[in-house]
Amino acid sequence: MPLTFDEFQERLRAAESRRELLWSEGRPRYVLLSQLFERSDLDRLFATADAIQRLDFTEEGAAFLRSTLRRKRVVNLFAQPSTRTCESFVAAAEKLGASARVLSDVDATSLAKGESVEDTLRTLACFYDALVVRHPDESFAARAAWASAASDRPIPVISAGSGRSEHPSQALLDLYTFHHAWRGRLEGRRIVLVGDIGRNRAARSLALLLPRFDRVSLDIACHPDHRPEPEFLEALEEGGIEPSFHASIEDALSESVDAIYVTRLQQEWDTDGGPLGTAEAFVLRPELRAKVRPDCLVLHPLPRVNELPDDWADHPGFLIWSQVRNGVWVRAALLATVFGVDAVIRSQAGDGP
Ligand code: NCD
Repeated sequence: MPLTFDEFQERLRAAESRRELLWSEGRPRYVLLSQLFERSDLDRLFATADAIQRLDFTEEGAAFLRSTLRRKRVVNLFAQPSTRTCESFVAAAEKLGASARVLSDVDATSLAKGESVEDTLRTLACFYDALVVRHPDESFAARAAWASAASDRPIPVISAGSGRSEHPSQALLDLYTFHHAWRGRLEGRRIVLVGDIGRNRAARSLALLLPRFDRVSLDIACHPDHRPEPEFLEALEEGGIEPSFHASIEDALSESVDAIYVTRLQQEWDTDGGPLGTAEAFVLRPELRAKVRPDCLVLHPLPRVNELPDDWADHPGFLIWSQVRNGVWVRAALLATVFGVDAVIRSQAGDGP
C-alpha cells in the first residue's frame, strides 16, 4: 500500500524513519532536509566535491566529468527569486555533462491552472531525470518527492529552498566552506548565527547539521520576534546543542567566536512592506571587527541588504564569495551522489572509491 501524504510527512519528521524514506539503493534520492546527512555522508560528499574541483582544473579531467551524467536532464522549478542557487545548480549539472533547464515563471506552467503537484511531477518526470525545486510552500518539495516515490518513474527531487524551513544544499555548501577553512576540524567550534533565524531557511538547515560535529557551541543573536520555534530548538537539543540567545550582535561577539553567519531579514514574509533592511542591533557594523579575531570566519548565504557592510571585505576570514564558488562544487557533488556516479569520480581523481 503506498503511503498517504500525511504518512509520508509523519515519517519525514521522525529521525528513525527518515533515511529509509528518502534514501534508495544506498544513496539519497529525495534531498528534502539537511538532517538527512550523517557524518560519514558529509565526509563522502565533501571528498566528491574536492575531486570534482580537482578534475575540473584540467582539460582531460573536465572532459571526464562531462561524461559522467551525459544524457541526464535536470529541471529547476523555481517559484521564488534566486540568483546563486538556481545558477549554481545549472552550472553544476553542466560540469557533469547533464543538461539543465530552468522553469521560473510558475504562472506559465499548468500549476497556475490548478494542476496538482503530483500531476506536475509526473509530467516533468516524463521529460527529465531529476527535479530541483524552490517553492514558498514548505510542503511542495515533499509532496513532489512523495508523488515521485509512488509513481512508476521515480526521479530524484532536491529541495533548493522550502518555505521558511529548509535549504539543504545551502547548508551543505556552508559546511563545506567551514570544512575547508578549518582543514576539516569543525569539532569544538563556536558559531554565531545572526538575524532572522526563525525564517532564514539557510541558517536553520545549517544549524541542524551542526550536531554531526562534537562540542560545537551555538549562539543566536536575533530580535525576539525572529527566534526559532520550540520544535526547532528541540531538534537541536536532541543533537546536544543548546543555543545561547543574545539581544544584539555585539553581545554575541568575543575573541572566542570562530565564525559569524549573518542573514538577511526575510521581509518577503511580512505583510506590512516596510523599508528593506535589518535593525542596527543585527548589522555587523565595521567597528565590531575589533571584537573578534582576524581568523574569525564571516559567512552569509546572500543576498545581503545592509546587514553585512563591505567594510568587512578585507577581513581575513571574510568568505562570502568562497561560499558562492563552493556552491557549484557541492551541488555537482550532490547531483553525482544522487545519480550514483560519485565513487567513479572520486576514484578518477585518485581518491579511491
Ligand atoms: C537564501 C534563500 O533563498 O533562502 N538565499 C540563497 O539561496 N543563497 C537566503 C535568503 O534569501 O536570505
